[in-house]
Amino acid sequence: MSSRQLFVTTALPYANGHFHIGHIMEYIQADIWVRAQRMLGHAVYFVGADDAHGAPIMIAAEKVGKTPQQFVADISAGRQQYLDGFHIAFDNWHSTDGPENHALAKEIYLELKAQGLITTKSIEQFFDPEKSMFLPDRFIKGECPKCGAHDQYGDSCEQCGAVYNPTELKNPRSTLSGATPELKTSEHYFFKLSDPRCLSFLQQWTQDGKLQSEVANKVREWLVPNELGESGLGDWDISRDAPYFGIEIPDAPGKYFYVWLDAPIGYLASLKNYFDKGGPLSLGDSRSFEQYMSDEKVEQYHFIGKDITYFHTLFWPATLHFSHRKTPTNVFVHGFITVSGEKMSKSRGTGIDPLKYLSLGMNPEWMRYYIAAKLNAKVEDLDFNPEDFVARVNADLIGKFINIASRSAGFISKRFEHKIGSLSQEGLALVQHLQQSAPHIASGFEQREFGKVLRDIMLLADRVNEYVDTHKPWELAKHQDQATPLHQVCSACLESFRLLSLYLKPVLPKLVEEVERFLKISPLDFSSAQTLLGQGHAIGVYQHLMQRVDPLLMGKLFEPSPDVVHAATGPHPSALVPGGTPIESVIGMDDFSKVDLRIALITACEAVAGSTKLLRLSLDVGEDQARQVFSGIAAHYKPEDLVGKLTVMVANLAPRKMKFGVSEGMVLAASHENENEHPGVFVLSPWPGAKPGMRIR
Ligand code: MSP
Ligand code: ZN
Repeated sequence: MSSRQLFVTTALPYANGHFHIGHIMEYIQADIWVRAQRMLGHAVYFVGADDAHGAPIMIAAEKVGKTPQQFVADISAGRQQYLDGFHIAFDNWHSTDGPENHALAKEIYLELKAQGLITTKSIEQFFDPEKSMFLPDRFIKGECPKCGAHDQYGDSCEQCGAVYNPTELKNPRSTLSGATPELKTSEHYFFKLSDPRCLSFLQQWTQDGKLQSEVANKVREWLVPNELGESGLGDWDISRDAPYFGIEIPDAPGKYFYVWLDAPIGYLASLKNYFDKGGPLSLGDSRSFEQYMSDEKVEQYHFIGKDITYFHTLFWPATLHFSHRKTPTNVFVHGFITVSGEKMSKSRGTGIDPLKYLSLGMNPEWMRYYIAAKLNAKVEDLDFNPEDFVARVNADLIGKFINIASRSAGFISKRFEHKIGSLSQEGLALVQHLQQSAPHIASGFEQREFGKVLRDIMLLADRVNEYVDTHKPWELAKHQDQATPLHQVCSACLESFRLLSLYLKPVLPKLVEEVERFLKISPLDFSSAQTLLGQGHAIGVYQHLMQRVDPLLMGKLFEPSPDVVHAATGPHPSALVPGGTPIESVIGMDDFSKVDLRIALITACEAVAGSTKLLRLSLDVGEDQARQVFSGIAAHYKPEDLVGKLTVMVANLAPRKMKFGVSEGMVLAASHENENEHPGVFVLSPWPGAKPGMRIR
C-alpha cells in the first residue's frame, strides 16, 4: 500500500461567534475522513483557523469596546473546548490575522499582479458620512425597490425575495449610525476573472470530473455567458477602503484585501504555521512548508458547506493557479444541518448548543455516530431529530455493537482465565467474513459515504448477534461439558467485536481506545483487519463501554435553561453578554442629552381592540394635554395595574403613526434580548418623590 500525503482543511469559521452545531457537523465529517485516511496508513496534515477579518467583525468589536484583535483572540480562546469535547483532532488551529497570512496574501497578490490579472476601477458605493466609512450591503437598510417592504437589507428583500444593489433601495439608511448614506466614488482593485485565461482554466478545473456532480453542474451555470455574451465570470472586487480590519494591499495606501481574498489563503497560513512550529518535523517530516507544498504528490482537500461553493470552486483555484501554486485536489461540499426540520438562525443558532450537550454529560460519540449515520457524499441537508437520535444510538451502538462484548467477555474472564480460545468452523467463517469486508469499508470512508458504511457495519454486527442467538452462550454456560463450545462462541464474539471496533474507529475514536485497552491490543488500523486476537491472547476485565441515551436528556438539551451549563463548563458564551446584547458603542454627553426622558404619570390605560400585544396609555408629563402612547406590554401587565403609577418616557421621539392611532412617545421597559429563554418585560418606575414632567439626566 503506497502511502498518500494529504493536506486537509475545514472552512475557517468567522471569529465573531462561538461554534454552533453546523460547524461541529462539518468538523466531525472532516475528522472522520482524516482518521480513516490515517488508519489506512496515509500521512495527513489537518488544519483549521479563525477567519478574523472583515467589516462585520470590526463593527462587532467596536460595539463591545474591544480592538478587533482582542475581540478575535477572545473568540479564539473558546474554540478548544468544543474541539476537544467532540474529539475533533486538528493538528493546528491558527488565525487569518497571523503574520504568515499577511505575508502569503501579499505574495500571492503580487504574483497575480505580475500575471497582469489585477486591474483597478472606480466604483460608486454608499458611504456613511457619520461613521466616515463605506458601508457593506449588510449594513444598509431601506425599502425594497420591488415591493416597498420596509426595513430590508441592502442586497435582497426578505419579503418578496428580490435581489438588487443597495443603491436601488428607497430611503436607504446606515444601520450603524442611522444616517442617510451618500454615494461616493472610490478606486477598487479587481482580480480579472473575465480574462480568457481564467475562464479556460476554470472550465477545465471545474469540469474534469473531480467535483461532486451537483457542484460541477452548479458551477457550469455560473460559467455560462449571459444574454449579452459576457463571460459568466465578472472581475472580482478584492479591495475595501479603510477603516477595515484586514491585510493592507501593497503599494495601495488605505486599501485592504476583501476578507474573502485572504480567508482561504489562511489554509496555507495555518499549515505554514504548523510547519514553522516543528509539527511535521516531530513526526519525522523534515521538509519546509514550501517544499511540502511544491511536492506534486501532496493532495489538497477542503471540506466546506454549500453556501461557500462559489468562493472555493472559482475564486480559490484561480487564485492558486495564477500564483503558480498547487490547486485543490478536490473540494468536498456538504449540506446544512437542521434541527427537527428547522433552519438555523444566524443569530440564535439552533436548538442544540454544542457546549450544553457536553455539559449535560452527553457522550460526544453519540453525536459523531448519529451525524455520520446521516451523512453521504452528496450536498444534501441533514436533519437532527431527537427521537431518531435516541433510537438510532441505542439500537445500533448499544443494542448491536456493545452488546456483543457485554454478552461474551464475562465468560472469557471468569471461565477461561481471560484467554481467547480456538474458533469453531462456523466461528472462523464468521470472523473471516468480517475480515474480508475491510477494503469495502475503507473505500466507503474514502468516498465519504459514511451513512452507507455504518449501515454495512451494522449488518455485520447483526450477523454476529445472530450467531450469538443461535449458540446461546448463556445456555452453554449452564453445562459443565459444554466448556469448549462456550469458549469457541465467546472467542468468535470477541474476535468479531475487535474487527467491528476497528471499522467504527474513525467515528468513535475514544470508545475504541477503551476497547483497545480492554482487549489489551495496540492501536487498531486497517492493516489490523488481517490479524486476529488469536488463541491464548489474554484480555482485560470488561467494563461497560457506553451508556444508552436516556430520552430524558433530550428534554434537557432542548429546554431553555443556560444555568445547567454554567455549573459544568464555566460561563455560557451568551451569558458573557449582558442581557443578551453587547453594550452599544460609546457616546458623548451631547448624544445622550438628545434623548429627552421625562417622568410620566399613567393617567389611563386600556387594551387595544385588534391587538394582543399593545396597551394604549395616556401619560401626563406636565403638559396641557396627555400624551397617547402605544406600548407592547399587554402580555405582561393588566391595564388596571398600571393606572396611577409613575414611569419614564422618551418625550421627544418622533410621533409614529400606527394602525390604531398615533403614538407620541415611548415608555421605557427592560427585557432580555432572548425573551424565550429569559422571559419578562419590566416597566421602569422612579423612586418616590419624582413628579410628572421632571427630566431624567
Ligand atoms: N468564514 C467563512 C469561511 C471562510 S473559508 C476560507 C464562513 N464562515 S462560517 O462560520 O459562516 O461558516 C463556516 C462553515 O460552517 C462553512 O463551511 C459553512 O457552510 C458551515 N455551516 C454554517 N452553517 C451550517 C449548518 N447549519 N450546517 C452545516 N454547516 C454549516 O463561511
Ligand atoms: Zn420586496
